[in-house]
Amino acid sequence: MAAGGTRRISAASARSHTRKNKQSSSSFLPKGIFKTLLLVFFTGFLAWAYQATRPPPPKICGSPDGPPVTSPRIKLRDGRNLSYLEFGVPKDTAKYKIIFVHGFDSCKLHNIFAATTSPALIEDLGVYIVSFDRPGYGESDPDPKRTLKSLALDIEELADKLELGSKFYVVGLSMGGEFVWPCLKYIPHRLAGVTLVAPVVNHWWPSFPSNISNEVYSQMFKQDQWCLRVAHYLPWLTYWWNTQTWFPGSSVASQSLDMFSPPDLEILSKLPPLTEAHKTQPRQQGEFESLHRDLNIAFGKWEFEPMELENPFPNNEGSVHIWMGDDDRFAPVTLQRYIAQQLPWVKYHEIERAGHMFALGDGMTDKILKALLNVTD
Ligand SMILES: *[C@@H]1O[C@H](CO)[C@@H](O)[C@H](O)[C@H]1NC(C)=O
Ligand SMILES: *[C@@H]1O[C@H](CO)[C@@H](O)[C@H](O)[C@H]1NC(C)=O
Repeated sequence: MAAGGTRRISAASARSHTRKNKQSSSSFLPKGIFKTLLLVFFTGFLAWAYQATRPPPPKICGSPDGPPVTSPRIKLRDGRNLSYLEFGVPKDTAKYKIIFVHGFDSCKLHNIFAATTSPALIEDLGVYIVSFDRPGYGESDPDPKRTLKSLALDIEELADKLELGSKFYVVGLSMGGEFVWPCLKYIPHRLAGVTLVAPVVNHWWPSFPSNISNEVYSQMFKQDQWCLRVAHYLPWLTYWWNTQTWFPGSSVASQSLDMFSPPDLEILSKLPPLTEAHKTQPRQQGEFESLHRDLNIAFGKWEFEPMELENPFPNNEGSVHIWMGDDDRFAPVTLQRYIAQQLPWVKYHEIERAGHMFALGDGMTDKILKALLNVTD
C-alpha cells in the first residue's frame, strides 16, 4: 500500500513539473535558488526527523544517573542483569514453583498472586512464585537485541540460576501472557504447566481469518490502530509516534481509562491504591526499552505461529490454560476463542461479564492457581 501510494504521488508531481516547466520558462528567479533552498530545507528536515525518531539512551539501573538497585538480580548469558522478587513459601520446601511474567507497563511488583491469592492456599499447597522485571522494565537491564526467543531463554536461565529444577510453571498476564507462547515454542521441555491470563493477541498472526481480525481491528480506537500499525510496519518510528504530540498515541501507554470495560472499572475501584513504586518502577529506565520495544515485539512479525504449536503435554503430564473475560477491550475475546478452537489441547476458561482485569477480582487467582496445579477442593 505504501509503495503504491508513493508511486502515485511521484507520477502526479512529475506531471505538475512538466506543466510548470512549460509555463515558467520566463521565470525571474534563478532556478538554482529554489533547488538550494529545497535541499537546505530537506536536509534540515531529515536531521530533525532523525533526531526525533531516536530514543534517548536508557537510564540504566545502578548506573550513576539511573535508579538504584533494590532487589536481587541474576546475571544472564550476555551480561545483562535480571531483577526478581520471590513470593510464597521458600523455594527449597515448595512443592510447586511458578515464574510469573508481568504485562505491558508493569513490573515484578505486579504479581497477581502476591496481590490477591489467599495466603492459606499458597501455604497449604506449598507454592513458590518468582516474578521478574522483563528486560528494560523496573531494575532489569534493557535488551536491545530482545526477541521472542530471548525472553523465553531469560526465563529458562532465571529458573536455572535460582535452581528451580528441571521443570517449572509459567504464568503470564496480559502482554506477559502473549510472551508465554514463545516459552511453549522454545522451552516446552522445561514446562510443568502454563497459564495465560487475558493474554494480548497479535492480530497479524497469519492463521486468523481476515474477516475476524479485520472486525476486531475496526473495533479498536483509531489511535490504537495507528499505534499498532506503526509498531508492525514501521517499528523504527514507534518511539517518535508514542512521544510526539501531533497525533494521539496509544491509549494504553497513556494510561487512559477509556479502554476499561465496566467490570474492569468496578474491580479497579475496589483495589487498594498502587504504591509509588508500583507506579514509577515500570518505566524508570525510560519508555523506549520498556514500552516501545514491547509494542514492537508483541505486534511485529512473529517467526512462528502460536496456533500451529504442538501440545507440550501429549501424555497429560501438565496442562495449558487460557483465562479470558468476555468483555476484554485489550485482548479481544473473538480472537481468543479462535485460538482456543485451533488448539484443542488448551483448556479455555471464559468468564462472563468480565474485562481485562478480572483476575484481580474476588477469589479469581485462587481458581486460576488450582486449575494450573490440577488440585481440586
Ligand atoms: C549488571 O550490573 C553490574 C553491577 O551490579 C554492572 O556492573 C553491569 O554493567 C550490569 N550489566 C549490564 C549489561 O548493564
Ligand atoms: C469468516 O468467514 C468464514 C468463512 O470464510 C465464516 O465461516 C465465518 O463465519 C466468518 N466469521 C465472521 C465473524 O464473520
